[in-house]
Amino acid sequence: MDEKLLIRKAAEARTFSYSPYSGYMVGAALLTSSGKIYQGCNIENAAFTPGICAERTAFAKAVSEGEMSFEAIAVVGGPKDAGPEYAYPCGVCRQVMMEFVDPRKFRVVVGRDETDYSVHALSELLPFGFGPDNLNNTPD
Ligand code: THU
Repeated sequence: MDEKLLIRKAAEARTFSYSPYSGYMVGAALLTSSGKIYQGCNIENAAFTPGICAERTAFAKAVSEGEMSFEAIAVVGGPKDAGPEYAYPCGVCRQVMMEFVDPRKFRVVVGRDETDYSVHALSELLPFGFGPDNLNNTPD
């Protein structure tokens, strides 16, 4: 799958960001092994803590529709009044990814647009990560 398409889909999702408190708009596009793309944006809240990041919105949409196998995620984020910057996933989102993917294979695409981005394995962003394999009751 074309990483440029995934970046474009993340930029599109970013336009739906609900971020009146931080003014930081983020979009994500999550690619499943079957080739489907789930988009997500960050959704903030007046009570602050219920806010959710774009990456976890995309994972929640996908997993809640039965998807369990993922190839890559693209993230495009930055302040509302400026263009996108390299917005790397927060630690909580890295951990959520770790739950559902092989960290050496899953790619995280971060960038400004389809001409300016970089690709990392999740294992680069979350080295020595703790995941389902560390527990005895590993999900099927
Ligand atoms: N945010 C994301 O959506 N993804 C990240 O990985 C980093 C942060 C959002 C959360 C919050 O709505 C805003 O960016 C500022 O932290």
